[in-house]
Amino acid sequence: EIAMSLTPHHLQLNQQGQLRHFLTIEGLSRELLTELLDTADSFLEVGERAVKKVPLLRGKTVCNVFFENSTRTRTTFELAAKRLSADVLNLNISTSSTSKGETLFDTLQNLEAMAADMFVVRHGDSGAAHFIAERVCPDVAVINAGDGNHAHPTQAMLDMFTIRQHKGAFEQLRFAIVGDILHSRVARSQIHALNILGAREIRVIGPKTLLPTEIERLGVTAFTNMDEGLRDIDVIMMLRLQLERMEGQLIPSSQEYFRLYGLTSERVARAAPDAVVMHPGPMNRGLEITSSVADGERSLILPQVTNGIAVRMSIMAKLMGPQSQNLESEP
Ligand code: CP
Repeated sequence: EIAMSLTPHHLQLNQQGQLRHFLTIEGLSRELLTELLDTADSFLEVGERAVKKVPLLRGKTVCNVFFENSTRTRTTFELAAKRLSADVLNLNISTSSTSKGETLFDTLQNLEAMAADMFVVRHGDSGAAHFIAERVCPDVAVINAGDGNHAHPTQAMLDMFTIRQHKGAFEQLRFAIVGDILHSRVARSQIHALNILGAREIRVIGPKTLLPTEIERLGVTAFTNMDEGLRDIDVIMMLRLQLERMEGQLIPSSQEYFRLYGLTSERVARAAPDAVVMHPGPMNRGLEITSSVADGERSLILPQVTNGIAVRMSIMAKLMGPQSQNLESEP
């Protein structure tokens, strides 16, 4: 794993306390998160226009550098950048010179030499986005699109946006994050965001083997019994079982995992009467969630994806755009 030489939440703010990179939710203020969500509200409307474009980032170049597979994050970043009128470069790592042994730093220096203004980075190693942010030119911004099991801050922001859109004030709501907490960068970012935004209660639910030790220090209560953990919950946030990251036998079997932690309609009925269900994707249907729940009326899984575009537009605009936003359509 790439060592983090600076505390990430110090690295992402400049000396005036303004956002310079977007690397982690940790250490950001409630005011900033609320401002990003409010701006995303206005960008949602842009996505409903016949011409889905505003000229805010015209002339800027955004480079998507994904060292790990992605469906939702990469495509919604690309759409977000295009809707802001930026030029977008998608570096395909499998066909790039990285496969010939070029280092991460050399690859990025070459992209910088092409005058990229922003790097959107996904990497399998925790700390990769910070490593890059420490080394880029002063006017280049870096967004963490998921690093190892550390953070996925834009996913957490689109989750917060979707919760606010459908359920209102965080102070009134109880949350349960369910499944493979141990390997989940999404869970870590969600927990930070929910705490900053004032959630009434945050629970994590999973087998002991998939709950990090001392997880309570993040301000959550841990449950190993799903039926107990779901009681009175307003928002059920499911996680993917990350079998590819597991070393050794952390679950007894897929069938047993589903029996104990799979989200079925019967289990949803144990939560609050109007509880909603979220999942960042990709989903393992039949392993952590049934199709009847994933596709049911309580599911916010596809709205999460749609909202991801507006939320990523908001974060990009904050990092690269002028302070006053021009939401006029292109002529
Ligand atoms: N939620 C998420 O990060 O999905 P992708 O891996 O498809 O980007």
